[in-house]
Amino acid sequence: MNIAIIRNSIVQKALIALSGLFLLAFLLFHLGGNFLLLGTPGQYNQLAQALEHWGWIFHGLELALLVALIMHIWLTIHIRRQQKQLAPKNLHLRQQHSWAGDWVVNSTSRLMVVTGPMILVFLILHLQQFRFHPGERNLEQLVYQLLQKPGWLAVYELALLPVGWHLAHGFGSSFQSLGLGHHKITPFLPRWSQILSVIIILGYALIPLVIYLQSP
Ligand code: HEM
Repeated sequence: MNIAIIRNSIVQKALIALSGLFLLAFLLFHLGGNFLLLGTPGQYNQLAQALEHWGWIFHGLELALLVALIMHIWLTIHIRRQQKQLAPKNLHLRQQHSWAGDWVVNSTSRLMVVTGPMILVFLILHLQQFRFHPGERNLEQLVYQLLQKPGWLAVYELALLPVGWHLAHGFGSSFQSLGLGHHKITPFLPRWSQILSVIIILGYALIPLVIYLQSP
């Protein structure tokens, strides 16, 4: 029974990793697109329109993003509950499968669970502000109007802290969850993960700041 739970949790962790990597790919794409906000006026809206012209492909990708997000959250909650069932009476099993045990005992993982809901709160706010904003879809104008306000600038900058933290740990551990660890690569994964997340976060932090500083 406990072995079945552990086997199950291996599959679940792999799915958490795959959905996480998909969300990371979106974050990179979104960051690239967002840099257009700092370029020639109109470019960002053109990109948004071009994407919408993809029709069902675009909406299919949006749906895939939503499915990945729900899967990532739901499985994380599920696997954590399972691991709690294993602890503490099956400590020997957790030690045999140390990565699974780590999920519970490791403070790093616990912080993942704290930063996850913080990102979700930001996302709900963010989608309501931009994706599901009623009225004419002038995204550039919406972004500029919002980020001219120091309060919103602060919200967007602070929201990047949990995102960065989550990424710094998540990217590296997703390789291990997928069984892609290699003695030549694995030791460098935490550092690569941190570097990648710092690059992404600095990119995301720069955009609202430049917009704010450019505002009259
Ligand atoms: C510099 C900061 C950011 C700006 C200016 C920004 C801007 C936008 C805009 C304008 C949209 C609407 C796009 C559309 O409707 O076609 C959007 C959508 C979205 N953003 Fe952001 N964003 C930022 C940061 C983030 C971060 C940090 C995340 C993730 C944690 C994120 C996740 C999303 C998601 C999931 C969507 C919906 C994508 C879709 O369904 O097409 N954004 N963002």
